Parts: sequence; structure tokens; C-alpha cells
Amino acid sequence: MKDKLQKARAFEQKYHPNLSKDEQPMFHVTGGVGWINDPNGFSVYQGEYHLFYQYNPYDTKWGPMHWGHVKTTDFLHWDRLPCALAPGESCDKDGCFSGGAIELPDGRHLLMYTGVRNVRSKNGIVEGFQTQCLAIGDGLDYHKVESNPVLDEKDLPAGGSAIDFRDPKIFFADGRYQMVIGNRAADGSGSILLYESEDALHWSFSSVLTSCHNQYGKMWECPDFFPLCGKYVLLVSTQNMTSMGLEFHPGNSTLCIIGDYDRAQKHLLRDNTQAIDYGTDFYATQTLETPDGRRIMIAWMQSWESSGCKPGNLPFFGQMTLPRELSIRDGRLIQNPVCELEACRTVKVSYRDVMITDETNLQGVSGRFLDMTVTVRRGSKNQMYRYFKINVAKDGERVTSIRHKPENNTIRVDRSRSGFPHDIVNVRDFPIAAKDELKLRIVLDRYSLELFVNDGEQAASFVIYTPITADSISFSADGMAIIDVEKYDIEV
Ligand code: FRU
Repeated sequence: MKDKLQKARAFEQKYHPNLSKDEQPMFHVTGGVGWINDPNGFSVYQGEYHLFYQYNPYDTKWGPMHWGHVKTTDFLHWDRLPCALAPGESCDKDGCFSGGAIELPDGRHLLMYTGVRNVRSKNGIVEGFQTQCLAIGDGLDYHKVESNPVLDEKDLPAGGSAIDFRDPKIFFADGRYQMVIGNRAADGSGSILLYESEDALHWSFSSVLTSCHNQYGKMWECPDFFPLCGKYVLLVSTQNMTSMGLEFHPGNSTLCIIGDYDRAQKHLLRDNTQAIDYGTDFYATQTLETPDGRRIMIAWMQSWESSGCKPGNLPFFGQMTLPRELSIRDGRLIQNPVCELEACRTVKVSYRDVMITDETNLQGVSGRFLDMTVTVRRGSKNQMYRYFKINVAKDGERVTSIRHKPENNTIRVDRSRSGFPHDIVNVRDFPIAAKDELKLRIVLDRYSLELFVNDGEQAASFVIYTPITADSISFSADGMAIIDVEKYDIEV
């Protein structure tokens, strides 16, 4: 085994046994030690779900990118596996960047990733040349193939940048292997390239699936492309987004394009665009299809912008979202927690038709590991409340709040008092559809809050570092609201 991989595995063997359950999320993936970012290689392999991730085992900061590895059968209980890839070959000496995975017909597991090789340019700047590389393995050990890189700058369309050419996502469709890769086109903005192969080893350029044209950010990273509910969906993570109303926030953001696939031109025809998640912490999505036909998405539950901000004593940095089931309703992407979460529900507490005006606590409604749905209606026939608010992860000092303001139909999540040591973006407002009833599903784990609005019409993800003892929940309204509550503790 190559030195750097051996070193990473020895490091994990030394430190993983010391991990305390009390320092890790209960059901969200982390690297255990070190830093993680994008999910990689999310795939079904020999009946289990494998997930890899961008990983620097040695520090809680981004660094030389390895691929960490976990697997699961239910998306909630994850087994840690040894580090799968380490940088070191000439084409990936400076990092094994993001990529995908697929099970081959002969039972082997193929990983396709971006190899990075830094070169100092004439003006002294270091530039990372990016090529696509392969590793093949058995679900535990992977070897990089001799023919790496399998795609390099020769395989780019005219004007495509060899410095922004990354994040292959492999899939099998229309009788052949295909993959989408993020690239920067001659106009300086992102484009998504489609490549094809008969054997998953030899690849050739096929088409530009779609281009950014300096709309919706610049470089598009981490593409994923798949059929869903009779349509086609492209998910990308966008750099340098400029904000657009409350739909897209500036900086590193996410974009979902729903449309049709023109097979003759190998081109995506757009119907709708939208943000994927409306929270502060969501980037770099990846999906798989389960054997029972569900499309499951996972993402890095973190923002690049706040990635230097965390309590000093955490042994790890970065976590994944709860995997979500995707569908399309009324032309929009719908996201709900995987149904497997229901099997982890324990104590149920429920209330019906509770009138909320002033700050109210409900007996039995508290906790930090939970799945809670609150249904909200107006309290009086002819008058809507001015706002309705749920406070969670609360003690005398700390609170994370979710507020609905019917006047402009927005949800505001505020985590200004949720355990962060620095002043980062803590508040997000996002628009929701006007309805007689509003449904808010909240999933809390030790370091996160994920919100699903109106059966998945919107999702919003937030990291919080509030101490676990802050477990109180309260409801309040300006005006009168009537609520139903169904709360389950989660135990994994
Ligand atoms: C996205 C990203 C990818 C790249 C990886 C490097 O978060 O920038 O484009 O492959 O992270 O860690």
C-alpha cells in the first residue's frame, strides 16, 4: 500500500478508538477526526450504501485531500471504514478531489475522482491542474489504475479550463457509462460537460450539457444529473453567486435545474431553476438511486464561508446532511428526510389544537435529538397572526428560532445565539408558498437543525454548536396561532 494511504490509516487506527459519542453527531456523518467537505462516491455497492468524502485526517482545516469512507444500510447507522484514497501519484500529488462511484458488472467498485497537480506559473501563482482519475476496489481497498489520468486537458472542448475541470459524477444510462464534470468555459463561467464510455475505463467527450453564461454564479462544481418523476434534474454548487431576492444567497450557493433531456443534442432544456436548500450550511450535493427506486441526496452541511468558525475543542470539522428523498411536485424539487428515519423514532408526544399567543412550553416537548412536525393555522377566522415562532435548543442564554411571517410569507431562521464564537451569517430568510396551513418539520441532532417546510417544498440546513444541555422548546405568536405538534425522540 502506498505510503500516504498507510499513514492515514495508521492515524485513524490510533485516534478513531478514542472518539467519544458525546462529541459526535448521533446520526450525521463526520470524519470522526480531521476535516471533511464534499460527499463523494455515494453509491450502492453489493447491497450497501457507500459514502466517501473529501477528507484531511490530520487537521480540522482543509488540507491535502484524501477520500474518507463510511457505509450504511439505512442512512442513519454508519460504519467507519479505513481511508480509501490518499494523494501521491503524479496526477494527484496535491489532492484527490471530489468524484463519484459505481458498481461494475464484475462486482468491483469503481471510483472516479479529480486528481490535482499544483504547478507554479510564471507569475509565481500556484495553479492546480485537474484531471480525472480512476481507482478500483472491493469496498475496502482501492488501487489507482495505471492508465491515470483517464481524462486530461486534451479531452476538453475548445476554451475549457484545465484548472477548473473537476468533480466527475458517474452513472449508467442509455446502455453506457456517462459522467458529468464541472468546467470553466472560455467566457469564464461554468459549464457542465458530459463524457461517455463503453467500459467505464476509456472515456470520450460527448457534449456540453448546459452552460452558466455568467448567470447563477461563475464556476459550477459538483454536478449531478439524473431523471426524476418524468423530468431531468441537474444539481450544481455555484461559486461567486450574486444574491437574487431571497432565492439565492451570495458566494458559494446551490442551484437545481429541472427540465427535459434532449437526447439527440445531449443537452438539458430548462424549465425551472431554484435554490436547493435555503439554510446557511449546504453545499456539494450528491445522489444515488436505491434498489427500490428512490433518489437519495446527501450534501456537505457546511458553508465554505464559515468553515473557519467552530468551537475550539471539537475533534472534527464538517458533517453531512441527513440523506433526503427527492421528488418533483408542481415543478419544484421536493426533499424529505429518508423514510428510514421513522424507524429511529422513539418516544412520541403529540398535541392537537393548542392555542398559542404568549411564549408557551408544552409538557414533553423538548430535546436535542428529535424529529418534530408542527402544523400551524391562524387562530381566528378573520385575523392572521403577525408572526409565529418556534424556539429550539434553548436555555437562558441560547436559542435557535424559526419564525413565520405571513405578511410577506417568509420563514426566518436565526441562529445568532447558537454557540458560534465568531460573527458569521446567522440569519436566513426565505419565501414559502401561501397556504391555509403551514407544516414545519424539524430534525435536530447534536450540531444541526434541518427544517423541511410543507412536506419538503423547502429545506433549510443549519449547523449549531449550542451545548446539548440547552434542550428546551417553546412556541409564541404575535396574534393567535393554533398548532398541532408531533414530536419523536430519535435514537440511533
Ligand atoms: C467543492 C470543492 C470541489 C473540489 C473539492 C476540493 O466544495 O471545491 O469542487 O473537488 O471541494 O476539496
